[in-house]
Amino acid sequence: MPANEASKPLVFVTRPIAEQALTELAGFARVDLWDDEMPPPRAVLLERIAHADAILTLLTDRIDAPVIAAAPRLRVISNLAVGVDNIDLDAATRAGVAVGHTPGVLTETTADLAFALLMAAARRIVEADSYTRQGRWRTWGPRLMLGRDVFGATLGIVGWGAIGRAMARRAAGFSMRVLYTTRERKPAGKPHRHNKAEVPGARRVALDELLRESDFVSLHVPLTPETRAMLSAREFRAMKRGAILINTARGEVIDQRALYEALASGHLGGAALDVTSPEPIAPDDPLLTLPNAIVTPHIGSASHATRLRMAQIAVANIRDALAGRLPAYCANPAVRLREPT
Ligand code: NAP
Ligand code: GLV
Repeated sequence: MPANEASKPLVFVTRPIAEQALTELAGFARVDLWDDEMPPPRAVLLERIAHADAILTLLTDRIDAPVIAAAPRLRVISNLAVGVDNIDLDAATRAGVAVGHTPGVLTETTADLAFALLMAAARRIVEADSYTRQGRWRTWGPRLMLGRDVFGATLGIVGWGAIGRAMARRAAGFSMRVLYTTRERKPAGKPHRHNKAEVPGARRVALDELLRESDFVSLHVPLTPETRAMLSAREFRAMKRGAILINTARGEVIDQRALYEALASGHLGGAALDVTSPEPIAPDDPLLTLPNAIVTPHIGSASHATRLRMAQIAVANIRDALAGRLPAYCANPAVRLREPT
């Protein structure tokens, strides 16, 4: 290896990301790539992170306190996601390790998917497609595949951040009535990067009112101790009969078993989930037996352009931290960066 190459910082990249971003990274770092679709096993992660100055992670990599403790040179954990629930933020902050993430750039793409799921569940698109492929379409039927109107319905948005508001803007185009909840108290010093512009007509209400009034409920909160199992049997009972739940946030935000029961009993009209608990969902999960449940494999931000932009931001976050600056998109801005060793 040429001498100038050996002096570059070492970055462990836990999966192949957009080629262009890897090339950008290789311009200022030695890249140690785990070239596999599946996450590195824990033993491999611990071994490879031991020498790394930075790590580029996915949301399926669990970066907990023991992993951080095994990385004495580490200065930044750069997550290719906006959510950072896979990382122990407190342990990273204590160790002087910045945590980068990719907010903003994936907002519209994820809201597109959330709205597509809403439409698909309302109009039974997945079920209707299967019906056609199974050769069951015999004639036009006045009672065939009846669904729910989206136009003019009430949408309840839980989590009034970047994606929640982007969802509300889409709903406005369908003349939906929009209700939203947000938390009463915010943690001190939390940065707000997203567009806080109001969405005309949207009304803030308490969660119980939102559940009672909404024809569609869409979840957009991060996974935190406060939001874990935020919607459980009681909340599903409080929802309108026939209402539809959309979850593109995190699977653990709902009690999945309770959701199954609410759907199977006929109380809820449908659910469309891009996130489950666990991920991937078990093939024998009872939810997958229900025709009124749609499950996609966590593809909210999965467009070519957005995934490239996310990878470029993840690389830029690493560049910042290795240059001794807080990453432009930092999930633990109170961190005091550790000195290079
Ligand atoms: P964001 O802009 O930070 O919005 C999250 C919102 O949730 C914030 O407004 C926050 O309030 C609010 N919130 C936090 N705790 C709450 C609580 N207990 N009750 C009510 N509201 C609460 O984040 P985002 O970019 O919209 O992303 C939201 C989440 O979507 C991510 O964390 C991630 O888990 C998920 N996501 C999934 C996909 C996918 O592929 N399916 C893609 C992107 C994101 P404050 O304003 O007070 O902080
Ligand atoms: C995806 O789930 C993300 O948090 O970016």
